[in-house]
Amino acid sequence: MHLTPEQEKMLEGEHGEMIAKMMRLLVRLGDVYNASKMIPVASVQVAGVSYKSIGDAGLEFLQDIAREARVKVLTFLNPAGMDLENWREMGIDEGFAKKQAAIIEAFKKMGIVISATCTPYLAGNLPRYRQHIAWSESSAVSFANSVIGARTNREGGPSALAAAITGFTPYYGLHLDENRQSNVIVEVKAELKTSTDFAAMGHYVGREVKKGIPYFKGIKNADVDDLKGLGAAIAASGAIALYHAEGITPEAKEVNIEGLEKIEFGEEEKRETYERLNTGEEEDIIIFGCPHASLKEIIKISKLVEGRKARKPFWICTSRAVKEIAERMELDEKISKAGGKIVADTCMVVSPIEKLFSTTAVNSAKAAHYLPGFCKQKVIFKSMEELLL
Ligand code: F3S
Repeated sequence: MHLTPEQEKMLEGEHGEMIAKMMRLLVRLGDVYNASKMIPVASVQVAGVSYKSIGDAGLEFLQDIAREARVKVLTFLNPAGMDLENWREMGIDEGFAKKQAAIIEAFKKMGIVISATCTPYLAGNLPRYRQHIAWSESSAVSFANSVIGARTNREGGPSALAAAITGFTPYYGLHLDENRQSNVIVEVKAELKTSTDFAAMGHYVGREVKKGIPYFKGIKNADVDDLKGLGAAIAASGAIALYHAEGITPEAKEVNIEGLEKIEFGEEEKRETYERLNTGEEEDIIIFGCPHASLKEIIKISKLVEGRKARKPFWICTSRAVKEIAERMELDEKISKAGGKIVADTCMVVSPIEKLFSTTAVNSAKAAHYLPGFCKQKVIFKSMEELLL
């Protein structure tokens, strides 16, 4: 792989042993994928933040890095295992909270923005079209690649940290034009009435296509929340980090779809996906915000429940930035009167909810996909309106 003189110096340890170590990791990764060079990244999003996911070994690894290295580019964090301020209200125990705080402290020392969200693009880290970035969390990667048209592979925790500390990533995979072409057309025949329908479609397509880049034809309209739910689901049930949607996503018009295989998402496939994801009977809690809720979604929920109690207690997971605006608008008060809570910095999958609940209702196909395995939950998967009213 070609390295610039600056990158060579980093590799040889002129900027310290930790930077050399991070550069070695990136060079090895680039060699595996035959990268021709390293490219600068505009921003990074690091996964592996929850103590539930990384444990003591992960904490020590981060503390070692934090002793020596600082990030060079705007770097955000994925959700942590708890609301970093109101963890007691979530029922988190003291031991877990201490470890989680130590992880956050290590990231802070590295100069990382203590954002803890899977929607960095809604909270202050918005890349532009064609910009190279190194993001980790699969729904954020899908959104950045597909909806914004930025370019990122799905980074693991260590390779994202290495990109943050060196400012570079190897030039391979979805950074290259030729790897962003679709390999299958999805004919959308089902009516998509809610974000949950979009998420169900993502789950179906991820399962069918598994790997590759689907090209959706026939989506009549979609807002940002629909697309974030679609991308999250498609990346959960399949290893799909990019999709194109005709007339909606920016690169769709650059894709040659002639002669591609076709699959269909119709009413039958939609019904079958809802059936597959519904494994529970009666929920203990309803949790929204996978991916993290937008302000628009929080406004919608607060209007739905205004002046009434929701069917069950509910949480809305979101970023701290969005939560603060919701509080300024006093939406948290309306939500609290209806039996809800806005929870920041974390989510239903990376926090230890298995200690609190056994059946969780969600409107997210990604959450429905992971909750049984990660959190031993039975799941109810329905639209926001059906769950609340
Ligand atoms: Fe985000 Fe957690 Fe879902 S990280 S995409 S809310 S599983």
